[in-house]
Amino acid sequence: MNQATSTATAIRNASARSAPSARPLLQVTDLKKHFPIYKGLFSQISGHVYAVDGVSFELRRGETLGLVGESGCGKSTVGRTVLKLLEPTAGRIALDGEDITDLDAHAMLPYRQRLQMIYQDPYASLNPRMTAGEIVGEPLVIHGVGDTANERLARVASLFSRVGLRPDQLHNYPHEFSGGQRQRIGIARALALSPEIIVGDEPVSALDVSIQAQIINLLMDLQDELGLTYLFIAHDLAVVEHISHRVAVMYLGRIVELTDKSSLFRYPLHPYTEALLSAVPTAKSGARTRKRVILKGDVPSPIRPPSGCHFHTRCPYAHRRCQVEAPALREVTGGHLAACHLHDGGPKVPLAKPADAA
Ligand SMILES: Nc1ncnc2c1ncn2[C@@H]1O[C@H](COP(=O)(O)OP(=O)(O)OP(=O)(O)O)[C@@H](O)[C@H]1O
Ligand code: SF4
Ligand SMILES: [Mg+2]
Repeated sequence: MNQATSTATAIRNASARSAPSARPLLQVTDLKKHFPIYKGLFSQISGHVYAVDGVSFELRRGETLGLVGESGCGKSTVGRTVLKLLEPTAGRIALDGEDITDLDAHAMLPYRQRLQMIYQDPYASLNPRMTAGEIVGEPLVIHGVGDTANERLARVASLFSRVGLRPDQLHNYPHEFSGGQRQRIGIARALALSPEIIVGDEPVSALDVSIQAQIINLLMDLQDELGLTYLFIAHDLAVVEHISHRVAVMYLGRIVELTDKSSLFRYPLHPYTEALLSAVPTAKSGARTRKRVILKGDVPSPIRPPSGCHFHTRCPYAHRRCQVEAPALREVTGGHLAACHLHDGGPKVPLAKPADAA
């Protein structure tokens, strides 16, 4: 069994434990997105950015999967590629059991309605020359939803009220709204076509803390009411802990740990997760007292990722094997996946370098 197959099997097994009959709504298997780097007069390809380099996960209906990791680790690229806003380099994406990986733009149209995105910077993603009502109604026009303009207007008005905007704001332009209100417009637009999956790419990162809480609560209420499934990308672990059911941690184009949020925050099994959590000042979910782990060095370039385990250049537990052999993401304990050689003989908690390791 190759590494990708064993990872996919581990993820299936881990999911089957908590929801035996539930088919995943979205299944992503060994997804890769490599951006070519062009050089010279004739734009020859001189290398690649390995932005996403073999990522597998599932989204279960009605859940929120948080996706965290340092800047540049490939979170947004995962989000955009699973929605097919970027064409994958390799791997498979299946929506409710149907493989959508190779569908072209036309064939994707019926699936587009089911997959939507909310962006970090609502101002940049809203057309300044359109009114808020036109922005929210645009997807209805494009997809031919509603028989008449009045029907579409009624739908837009109900979306406005659902996200906490007033009907009299339908005719205002984006610059007339506050940051939080603009994100509400973005959410209303994402909801217009009654999607099943919403990818939120740092949807609250640009907002004040008090407004962040309002938007997070709105997203959680909408999930309960409409049965939405979220892939929630963020770098703020407190926000991720609040909104997510499960969390995936990314490092340099790969998922290194994936489990339910309480396991992740209590017993991180990957040294990178341990370091990330050690920088969070409070531990809401009763985590053990954490030792402070200071990572050495910067994140390596995704153009030339380190050999073996991508994390070995910064890992306090790295040993010789880590430089040559990439660890597969596999189930270490029930439903808790990690990609680290430390757990090869069974879970090692607290994390420690093998006594006989060079
Ligand atoms: N269109 C592109 N062409 C070339 N490289 C790209 C492109 N888009 C992203 N990248 C590179 O891919 C890597 C991953 O980028 P990505 O935006 O997915 O990271 P991220 O985890 O979302 O980071 P951040 O937290 O800063 O938003 C980065 O090195 C980035 O420079
Ligand atoms: S495989 Fe080795 S380098 Fe990678 S996280 Fe585990 S101990 Fe660290
Ligand atoms: Mg990003």
